[in-house]
This record gives sequence, structure tokens and C-alpha cells, in this order.
Amino acid sequence: MKKILVTGGAGYIGTHTCIELIEAGYKIVVVDNLCNASLEGLKRVRRIVGVDIPFYQVDVRDKVGLTKVFEVHNFDGVIHFAGLKAVGESVEMPIKYYDTNVGGTFILAEVMRDFDCKTFVFSSSATVYGNPKMVPIREDFPLSATNPYGRSKLMIEEFLQDVFVADDAWNIALLRYFNPIGAHKSGLIGENPNGVPNNLIPYISQVAVGKLDKLNVFGGDYDTADGTGVRDYIHVVDLAKGHVKALQALDEPQVLIVNLGTGNGYSVLDMVKAFEKSSGKMVAYKIVDRRAGDIATCYADVSFAKTKLGWQAERELDEMCEDTWRWQSQNPDGFLNETFA
Ligand code: NAD
Ligand code: WQD
Repeated sequence: MKKILVTGGAGYIGTHTCIELIEAGYKIVVVDNLCNASLEGLKRVRRIVGVDIPFYQVDVRDKVGLTKVFEVHNFDGVIHFAGLKAVGESVEMPIKYYDTNVGGTFILAEVMRDFDCKTFVFSSSATVYGNPKMVPIREDFPLSATNPYGRSKLMIEEFLQDVFVADDAWNIALLRYFNPIGAHKSGLIGENPNGVPNNLIPYISQVAVGKLDKLNVFGGDYDTADGTGVRDYIHVVDLAKGHVKALQALDEPQVLIVNLGTGNGYSVLDMVKAFEKSSGKMVAYKIVDRRAGDIATCYADVSFAKTKLGWQAERELDEMCEDTWRWQSQNPDGFLNETFA
């Protein structure tokens, strides 16, 4: 049975991926510094899968701490989720973002090399396409970044490609996620942002549950069908399954670059309507100015993922909204209430 280290495994995408990995027959170990997660999320994962998951509260920038974990466990590969992801915060705190995202990946790669563990799955983002000239976006489109968060992802992609050029024993997947939403069917785990959410779906769901008054729709004058921004929302469980497929595809040395999206674009107002339907709640909104740095339309060309990974997203928009709502309505305060010992 293969053993995988999941960094950032206590977070939103990490917890969902832990479940899919275990269900696919992998052994896993989680490292997380808990700066944006709580142990309660992992406890709930254990409850869902009925398996204990070794956990180490270690920062990926802590080489000594990481080395100790690698001394205890013999890993076949690493899925690297650990990092910071708030675009606005990255503009205010670039040092923190480069240190955590880029610096953390350097240290992790060093330790992996030291232990001859050279299978690496990295959480990249559709943000590396910048403002694409056309859609759907293919993996070979030009790359650019408009903020420190995006630039940190681009730098890591380039760093990992350099690592492969120097030593072609590495087996690397750069997975470019589009917009992950939704939650596990159990309603036990889901996205749990700190403070007021930056992203659309957590914001909409907090309006629906009565924690926020109304949604500010950023821009009603984009060149889209209804004037609001269009994105490729993907169910987090589909995304998690994509990681299992990526690990399975890393059967020989390579750098594999894959979009993980659905290939469908929905506008902000489509999302409001879909969420109202799934939750049975009204989502009050107001159209305001565009948000700096936003683009009009972004959705994936998913043909390479289909051919190379044998993977495609299966969950439709209604299911994404229903699952988000189940999580949000059952856990209005996120993981604050400890339900399991
Ligand atoms: P998340 O914040 O829920 O998960 C990240 C986890 O990493 C958290 O549990 C956090 O505590 C941990 N972490 C942060 N810094 C760490 C450090 N220095 N050492 C150890 N652990 C650390 O975010 P997520 O949505 O699950 O995202 C996971 C990854 O996917 C991130 O790298 C993110 O940039 C990337 N990504 C996310 C999205 C998205 O919209 N959610 C889209 C594209 C890419
Ligand atoms: C979606 C749409 C907004 C909030 C970001 C990162 C990206 C990736 C995913 C990590 C846009 C509109 C939003 C609100 C709104 N993360 N919106 N009111 O901007 O596509 O991507 O998260 O890698 O890097 O940039 O996602 O959910 O913030 O926005 O009208 O309160 O919703 O303008 O059209 P985005 P989002």
C-alpha cells in the first residue's frame, strides 16, 4: 500500500483529498501548521473514513520538523497543498506569501530529495493564466500573474520544472485548479474561511444563512451574457478525485501539467440563482464596481485531463450548491463546535 504525505491536509481541499486517497487504498500522513485550519476538520475526516490518520503540526518551512516526519515514514509521494491563498492579503503581505508558498516548497523539495522521495503533486491555480486571450483555457496558453499570490504559484511551477530538468528521476504534477466549491456529502467538512469571505460561494452561503446582509456583485458591465464575471466552479470532491488520478498517472518521470475544472462557465448571477434554488433562501445582492484585478471570463479546456488522467468532473452545479448549503447550514460557525472526540 503506497504512503502519501499530504501537506496542508487539514485545510479545505486537503481534507476532501484525504478521504479520496484513503478510499482509493492509500495510506496517508498529514502535515499542517494549522494557520488556516483546525484539528476538528481532521477529526471529522477520521470519522468519515473510520481510519486513523497520523498528523504532525509542522510548518513546511521547518526543515528539521519535516525531516523528522520523513525519518518516521517512508513516503511514496507528496501532495503539497500547504500554502496561503488570499489574493488581496498577498498584495499587502508579499513577504509572507513568498516565504510560505515559495520558501515552503523549496524546503519540502529539499527534504524530499534528501529522502529520495521524488513524486510531487502541486496545487497550482488557474490564476497562472492571468487574463487569458480566449476560453476555454488550454494548458499550453501563455502564463502571467497580476498579484503576489499568482506569482508565487508561477514561481513554484518554474522551480519544479527546473528541479526536473536537473534530475529527471522526479515525477511532478502541476494541477491548475479552477474555482473549487462544494463540500463532502456528509455535511461534516467544508470550506471554513476566516472572517469575511473573499470568494463568491462562501460569501453567498453566509448571506443565505443570515450571517451577512447581502452580496456585493463585483461588476455588472463585463462582456458576458449578463454582465457579471464567469468562472469554472468545480466540486471539491471531483477535484480531490483528480488528485488520486494524478498520482496514478505519475508512473514514470515527467512534469505533468493539467487543468482541473469542469469546462463550464457560470456567471455570478447564475451562481446566486443556483444557490437560492438549492438552499430555498433568498440571496440579496447589489451590483457594485468591479474588483481590481478580476477578469471577465475563465473556464478550462478539460480535454487533456480526460485523455491523460482518465478523469472528468462529474458533479453538476446544483449538487455543488446543495452540498455547500448542507455544510453551511449544519455548521454556521464552521468547525467551532466540536462534535467528535
Ligand atoms: P486552505 O487554507 O484551506 O488549506 C491550506 C492548508 O495549508 C491549511 O490547512 C493551512 O493551515 C496549511 N498551511 C498554510 N501554510 C502552512 C505552512 N507554512 N506549513 C504547513 N501548513 C500550512 O486552502 P485550500 O483552499 O484547501 O487550498 C489548498 C491549496 O490549493 C493551496 O496551495 C491553494 O493555493 C491552492 N488553490 C486553492 C484554490 C481555492 O480556490 N481554494 C484554487 C487554486 C489553488
Ligand atoms: C468569483 C467571481 C468575482 C466575491 C480566486 C483567486 C484564484 C483562485 C480561486 C486560488 C468573480 C465575483 C466574488 C464577491 C463577487 N484561488 N465575486 N462578489 O476571483 O475567480 O478566483 O479564487 O488559487 O486565484 O483569484 O474567485 O470566488 O473570488 O470570484 O461578485 O463577494 O465572483 O468578481 O467574478 P476568483 P472568487
